[in-house]
Amino acid sequence: MWNLQTALAIFGTLCLTSISGYKNGKVEKSCESMMPEHHSQPNTTASPYTLTVNASKFSPGDNIRVTLSGSEHFEGFLIQARDATNPDGPAIGSFTLVDPEISQRLTCNSIEGSAVSHTSNAKKTEIQVIWKAPSKAPPTVQFLATVLAHYKIFWLKLPGPVISQGDVTPAPSQSTTVMSTKSASPSILPQPFTSEGCGTSKSCLIDPVSCNPSVDTNCFFLSYSTLGQTVSFELSGPAQGYVSFALSKDKWMGDDDAYLCINDEGRVSVEAAHTTGRTYPEVSSKSVLTDVGWRVSDGVIQCKFSRSIYTPQDPVRFSLNNSYYLFVAHGTAEYGMIHRHTWQPLISSHHQIITGPPEILTGSRSPLLMKYHGALMLIAWMLAGSTGKLMAAYFKPDWPEQTLFGQKIWFQVHRMLMSLTVLLTAVGFGFPFVYRGKWSTRAGAHPYLGCTVMILTFCQPIMAAFRPAPDSSRRWIFNWLHWGVGNAAEIIAVVSMFFGIRQQSLLLPYPWTTGVLSAFVVWTIVLKLVLKLHKHDVIRKDINCKMIQTESEMKQNKLFKIIYLYV
Ligand SMILES: *[C@@H]1O[C@H](CO)[C@@H](O)[C@H](O)[C@H]1NC(C)=O
Ligand SMILES: *[C@@H]1O[C@H](CO)[C@@H](O)[C@H](O)[C@H]1NC(C)=O
Ligand SMILES: *[C@@H]1O[C@H](CO)[C@@H](O)[C@H](O)[C@H]1NC(C)=O
Repeated sequence: MWNLQTALAIFGTLCLTSISGYKNGKVEKSCESMMPEHHSQPNTTASPYTLTVNASKFSPGDNIRVTLSGSEHFEGFLIQARDATNPDGPAIGSFTLVDPEISQRLTCNSIEGSAVSHTSNAKKTEIQVIWKAPSKAPPTVQFLATVLAHYKIFWLKLPGPVISQGDVTPAPSQSTTVMSTKSASPSILPQPFTSEGCGTSKSCLIDPVSCNPSVDTNCFFLSYSTLGQTVSFELSGPAQGYVSFALSKDKWMGDDDAYLCINDEGRVSVEAAHTTGRTYPEVSSKSVLTDVGWRVSDGVIQCKFSRSIYTPQDPVRFSLNNSYYLFVAHGTAEYGMIHRHTWQPLISSHHQIITGPPEILTGSRSPLLMKYHGALMLIAWMLAGSTGKLMAAYFKPDWPEQTLFGQKIWFQVHRMLMSLTVLLTAVGFGFPFVYRGKWSTRAGAHPYLGCTVMILTFCQPIMAAFRPAPDSSRRWIFNWLHWGVGNAAEIIAVVSMFFGIRQQSLLLPYPWTTGVLSAFVVWTIVLKLVLKLHKHDVIRKDINCKMIQTESEMKQNKLFKIIYLYV
């Protein structure tokens, strides 16, 4: 009896084959693309169909029950399992049937039963098949289904659950297997994001501290919260062209998992990208972002999206179960192409596990290394260097008798301060290179001036070490060189500082800083002039009156200079 039925079914199948190409489900031609023949465009709205499996892990040879079900009926289907990291690759493993009346095995990729399809266009709402894992299975496997609702309405290659081999990392749980369409059109957000719930229901990175994007238009805001296997991100900030954020394993740019929200004439496109080095981010062709929404108002770009913690279909994306630094950047864009950010990105002060407990993060736009660079250079040249020079220029005649470790006091102090200047300059000089990892072409004249100062600075102690004896006939050459190079270095250093304090990585309140620095330079010059006049005064007295200075006069003279030194 059963044999008769089978025979009839086969007979029926053969008859149908001659009538229609697709109704019988013999769709081997679609093995690769999973695209039904003679069909137009796949439907891109959310599909009413779901693929589920009864296990999240497997070992070679395991049987996995795969269920395709729908809240609406469907007529045709094609189910395959593929390597999750290569969903365009060939079908793997083989299926056995649960109900041969409505399903049949196909030979794709030369493997018998590596795909299943319908046997007729009878309406159904559920179909089950068993997938047997092959002996050489990839670490993660994804199920995919093309589902035909009616003749012209179908959904192409709906992504199903990802399962992983027992010894591999956990795959998304099966709660995420709802076949929401990834290309669902983004929604317009009805209202701005809010910082309410930061630290309790979501993690937030906010700049300036504790601003609220729902009321402040001048607020950079990034939040993320985990629900099941997906993480939702919200990004907001005032920008002409784009706002973006990146997950980074270190505090440097490059090799980051970046997400861009680009304003293209009032419409925002939300894209996942990958940065290698400091080049233009490579926008991903694979869509891993779901639940996309955006909003533009008052010059503020806002966007949100969700993605799953693991994205085996796009291995460039970072797994969100790990700890990352967060970068928030913004800038201008043209025709949907972003320009390099003109502001230093906001970098979170520490790294955090994205799926970890909610936290409020703080960030800084000024890297610590660059701050140290600025501080060291200021101490070196405004304090140590200029005082050391004053010692040599105006304090030689003082303390003529006293010595310190066998040398004149002025010389000891001069040598000590100048060595300190060289040391601080050398250490500070290294920081920007450590931070950038290479020569910065965007810092203007500052790095060139800085290098000149560094070279001149190194010349000084070398020259001093090989100086001729004080009574040598060539001593004057050394005196002039030492004086000239020292002054040149100081002048270039000061000019360099003026360029340096305007660097965006320092984020100083320009033009205030320039004012302060100018005032200091003027003060130093006045100080030198006064000391010079004083010196001339003393010498003139010496010559004109040929008077031997009394003890008290000497003391007065010394006191005057010391007061100046302290100031
Ligand atoms: C997709 O399907 C929905 C409902 O099933 C239908 O309203 C819509 O017109 C379809 N879109 C396309 C492009 O076929
Ligand atoms: C899934 O279903 C298959 C077929 O019914 C069965 O062999 C397998 O043990 C099930 N796996 C789990 C984890 O329940
Ligand atoms: C996160 O998952 C990856 C694989 O997806 C794994 O290698 C890593 O150890 C996990 N990290 C943590 C902190 O659990």
